[in-house]
Amino acid sequence: MKKAKIAVLVSGGGTNLQALLDAQKSGIITSGEISLVISNKAGAYALERAKNFNVPSYTVLKKDYASQTDFEDAIINLLEENQIDLIVLAGFMSILSEHFTSRYDKRIINVHPALIPSFCGEGFYGLKVHEAALQKGVKVTGATVHFVNEIPDGGEILLQKAVEVQDGDTPEVLQKRVMEQAEWIILPQAVEKVSKTIVSK
Ligand code: GAR
Repeated sequence: MKKAKIAVLVSGGGTNLQALLDAQKSGIITSGEISLVISNKAGAYALERAKNFNVPSYTVLKKDYASQTDFEDAIINLLEENQIDLIVLAGFMSILSEHFTSRYDKRIINVHPALIPSFCGEGFYGLKVHEAALQKGVKVTGATVHFVNEIPDGGEILLQKAVEVQDGDTPEVLQKRVMEQAEWIILPQAVEKVSKTIVSK
């Protein structure tokens, strides 16, 4: 059976990448294959995780390019060379412009650590999202997987899962709960769903 070729873009620890690699191993992801990992941060631990699974990985640093467009073109070249069908942003902390997103309509998905449209858009990433949720005093938060378009966190929603906020939560504690109870579950599910659509076309 043909599989969708998947690239995962990362910037940090890569626990969502790990969830995807584990889901591929356990058979939750069967319609796609993680074929490439790209980091925009040198030495990101996510690169180790790719190595442990024998997935080729590359580091592309914005500072090595004259413009955002050149940086995005370097990533596009890697995606084209590897004939990538689906791009997964898994903790990728750089906003991609329309130059990039318009090339891959319904071919880029992102995991966001809140229930969109809450706590999303420019400036809401990583721990900042959980800090804002705690500051607001919400009792329920969660995670969202959505298609990526030119509006940060603005593309069509694929899956969401709610997670309870508990008394005494710190941003770190809440982040971990949202990852364990939502992100690591719905990201692989969404990847399988979109891969299946791609291979059936
Ligand atoms: C995750 O919580 C992910 O949802 C978030 O960063 C973390 C990355 O962790 N992404 C964003 O905030 C994007 N706007 P990871 O590197 O361990 O997967």
